[in-house]
Amino acid sequence: MTFSFAAERALFPILTHKAQLSSCSQSAMSVPVSEAIQHYMASWRNSGMDWVGWGVVLDQAKAEFARLIGAASADIAVMSCVSDLASSLGHALEFGPERNGIVMGEIDFPSLGHVWLAQQGRGAVVEFLSSDAQGAIDLEAYERAISDRTRLVSVSHVAYSSGFRQDIGAIAALAHAQDALIFVDAYQSVGAMRIDVVRDNIDVLVCGAQKFLLGCPGIAFMYVRRDLAQTLTPANTGWFGRVNPFAFDVRQLDYADGARRFDTGTPPYINAAAAKAGMALLNSLDMAKVETHIEQLSAVALEAARQHGLRIASPLEPRLKGSNTAVYVEDSAKVEKQMAAAGFIVSARGSVIRVAPHFYNTEQEVAGAMAALARIV
Ligand SMILES: Cc1ncc(COP(=O)(O)O)c(C=O)c1O
Repeated sequence: MTFSFAAERALFPILTHKAQLSSCSQSAMSVPVSEAIQHYMASWRNSGMDWVGWGVVLDQAKAEFARLIGAASADIAVMSCVSDLASSLGHALEFGPERNGIVMGEIDFPSLGHVWLAQQGRGAVVEFLSSDAQGAIDLEAYERAISDRTRLVSVSHVAYSSGFRQDIGAIAALAHAQDALIFVDAYQSVGAMRIDVVRDNIDVLVCGAQKFLLGCPGIAFMYVRRDLAQTLTPANTGWFGRVNPFAFDVRQLDYADGARRFDTGTPPYINAAAAKAGMALLNSLDMAKVETHIEQLSAVALEAARQHGLRIASPLEPRLKGSNTAVYVEDSAKVEKQMAAAGFIVSARGSVIRVAPHFYNTEQEVAGAMAALARIV
């Protein structure tokens, strides 16, 4: 398999001596991201403050995110984490007796369960769909569960534990056929594959910066379809959600157009600088090639795990999964440390170790990680 990303791989210093395969948790730090953080610190240290300049970088981060998902930057809101964004959206929805259903998968990230269950007090009824042994939920399960009482279908594009990849376009169609909304948690997919919210008719999509977006924790992005956003009045709000944040009118609660109405207070500017640099690097790549490369690495991971007799907790077909290949282990936190000592940075979650390469990883690193895992377990 040819490796097309040698030049970009050289931008990740850690890869000269460690195989970082933890993009499902935190990706490797690149030189441009490190420089963006330094640049923020220098502007603070040397100029005292630069609200205008920091604001420009935040807008650029929104624009880079929008480009990765085929949206416009005016349709992107920012908060510090996905949980906050989802909560804010949940509180902006109505759950009247005729339309109070929320359908979600049991494989979705726990935060999403917590956020939607927190809407029970406002009338919501949450239904969890079960998964199979490979951590997958088939489309028929969604079809059966979605009805004319469903308000929201919440889907993980790629499941955080098993790596199962859902067909979000198909679920959007099922949701819309019943006049329900689709909310996509794309934390494990944006930056690793092509996404087009317009083509797939996605209503809301969220993602944070430190996994496949190459940034650091502390900033997350939410796309809201323009005409939907115009109908929502978030209760979780603040001056950055106003038509003119600098009007400073304490009596005026007007909502900015589009997703910007979900912005609240002073944004996480330093995190935005890191996120912008990471996403600019991704946007300089051919995302079709990134997707293909990651799929090929999945094939290598699955085959190596099989040959070493490891118990795989992911779909066995690369097309049905994202980057992450999960393997069952006894004590995942201990194994994560042992793998790190052996030079492989992988991620423990519950009963599994996740090997999650990005575009900068090689076949040798992935196969090496599976071999090391087999030796350790
Ligand atoms: C798929 C997915 N969704 C949501 C989250 C949690 O997001 P946050 O911590 O930004 O609320 C994670 C964190 O690992 C995740 O993997």
